[in-house]
Amino acid sequence: MRSPFKPTAGRQPPVLVGRDRDIENFRMAIAEGPGAPERLLFVTGARGIGKTVMLNALSHVVEEQGWITVNETASSGFVSRIVQALQGERAKQISYTLPSASLEVPFAGAQATVGFGQVQVSTGLEPLDIRHAIGGRLDRLDENKQGVLITLDELGVESPMEEVRAFATAIQHLIREERNIAVVFAGIPSMVDDVVNDKVLTFLRRAERFHLRNVRNEDVWSAFEHTISENGKRADYGVLNALTLATHGYPFMIQLVGHQAWRISESAGHDDEITLDDAQQGIEKARDRIGELVNGPAVDGLPPMARAYLMLMAVDDGPSNTTEIAHRMHKTPQYASVYRARLIHEDYIKPAGRGYVEFTMPFMREYLRQYAAFNQLEQNLEDMALSIIESAEEPDRR
Ligand SMILES: Nc1ncnc2c1ncn2[C@@H]1O[C@H](COP(=O)(O)OP(=O)(O)OP(=O)(O)O)[C@@H](O)[C@H]1O
Ligand SMILES: [Mg+2]
Repeated sequence: MRSPFKPTAGRQPPVLVGRDRDIENFRMAIAEGPGAPERLLFVTGARGIGKTVMLNALSHVVEEQGWITVNETASSGFVSRIVQALQGERAKQISYTLPSASLEVPFAGAQATVGFGQVQVSTGLEPLDIRHAIGGRLDRLDENKQGVLITLDELGVESPMEEVRAFATAIQHLIREERNIAVVFAGIPSMVDDVVNDKVLTFLRRAERFHLRNVRNEDVWSAFEHTISENGKRADYGVLNALTLATHGYPFMIQLVGHQAWRISESAGHDDEITLDDAQQGIEKARDRIGELVNGPAVDGLPPMARAYLMLMAVDDGPSNTTEIAHRMHKTPQYASVYRARLIHEDYIKPAGRGYVEFTMPFMREYLRQYAAFNQLEQNLEDMALSIIESAEEPDRR
């Protein structure tokens, strides 16, 4: 039998663990009508914590009530993609008859230029166009019952700011007009902050936030229990405990651990059971995969100094003393504390008693140690971090 777990970015898990309260708050905001705070929302959290999955879950809440949803990623051209999606059928009536004086373009605000036998449609979109597109779609609904939800994933410094401003301005007007809409953005905390700190976007600072964190062991345990038994296998108490503890409450790890253990039980011919041995082998595999899939990209996405900070923490076997880390960085504690704050803010690490920090992401320490061993066999982690610090000439502004 195929594994019911979904260890793939953005895929809905068999059990959505630990997010009931957030979903309920959103549901209430939809029921309360325009003006309810969670209708303008940021979903933030570390890589792999379940932001995209949360956007899907929130979309599902309103789709059940007959709302229109548009799910987009905040990359170049997103505004016109949203407009197109909202215009639905009409957007498909594009005609590129050449040469032509009557060129139909796919959406309001798009400009078509006819060159040497070529048609280019450029997207000079203004806030007004997106506002009209959403307003127009709402006009075609029974707005007392139905509305429009737009979700915008992966908001960050790389998002096209002109478009974000145009979009946000349109949203601001529609909210003022008390139209039946909801808008949910998702992104990594610091990236979202960079966007929200834009001068034009002050109104976004007042938006609600669902900051997603690791989930509780009890919830992970029951999710494993439920998913495994629903799909025709047994797992005894000890197996469920082992699987649960290996996840550290990190959502991506729930899917990875479950998936690997399931697969191994299949290859071992355990049709109706996951044994402790299957679980242990699955956990091993999941640890390797989490390094490639999550820890690696997470570390690579950091500015060099922050990365060095993490590496210097990985030298320790348990929580790290922050003064000691500064010492290892050859920097003042004040200097180091900038990176400490950033890493805490982004959920890579968390305070562990006064003057101490520890990793939040599971197996980050192991990953960093392996990374050092893999990349620089002749150097240890500390030397590697120091060479990163030396080559980062000026303080990072990323
Ligand atoms: N609440 C949850 N319970 C169980 N599994 C979850 C939960 N949330 C997410 N997952 C699983 O974790 C993985 C990562 O989820 P998702 O892609 O939504 O994370 P993300 O925060 O969007 O990551 P990224 O920052 O890389 O975009 C997926 O395999 C998904 O099925
Ligand atoms: Mg995502």
